[in-house]
Amino acid sequence: MNEIKRAIYPGSFDPITNGHVDIISRAKKVFDEITIAVIQNPDKTPFFELEHRLELIKHLFKNDPHIKVEAFRGLLADFAQKRNVYTIIRGLRAVSDFDFEFQMALTNRHLNTKIDTVFFMTDEKYSYLSSSLVRQLAGLSADISSFVPPDIERSLKDRIHHG
Ligand code: PNS
Repeated sequence: MNEIKRAIYPGSFDPITNGHVDIISRAKKVFDEITIAVIQNPDKTPFFELEHRLELIKHLFKNDPHIKVEAFRGLLADFAQKRNVYTIIRGLRAVSDFDFEFQMALTNRHLNTKIDTVFFMTDEKYSYLSSSLVRQLAGLSADISSFVPPDIERSLKDRIHHG
């Protein structure tokens, strides 16, 4: 019997963008089950609270049984160990991402030698996209409809106009 291929896709997802969604759809061709692991970082004040980020992502993938959504805090290596899943997915947009990603991948493997990080290259149309860019554009009332899924766009606008 073939073993189920599982992986963890960690990030802040504040908010999830079409770039993240693109990485997930590429990773789905390789993995049977992907856990989107949303970080709760007590040192950073997020734009969207953890619960809201989880809710938005769960809603986005509600019809996809291959995608699970969970929160984590502390070390990603500990989360991987607890889940017994040792493959981490990360997206690369440009060469400039590589330094940090390389450092993270090796640190995670240092913390747990079972861990490997697998990189997917984003579609070039998202190569300059980031959650912070999306937040900035939304704050300035720019059109972000090609950068985020419609529900996320609505939520961003709502948050900006109604706090
Ligand atoms: O979307 P992001 O902000 O690029 O995601 C970064 C994230 C959450 C994957 C990374 O900061 C992380 O794994 N943090 C958990 C703390 C940890 O395990 N640090 C050691 C590895 S660098």
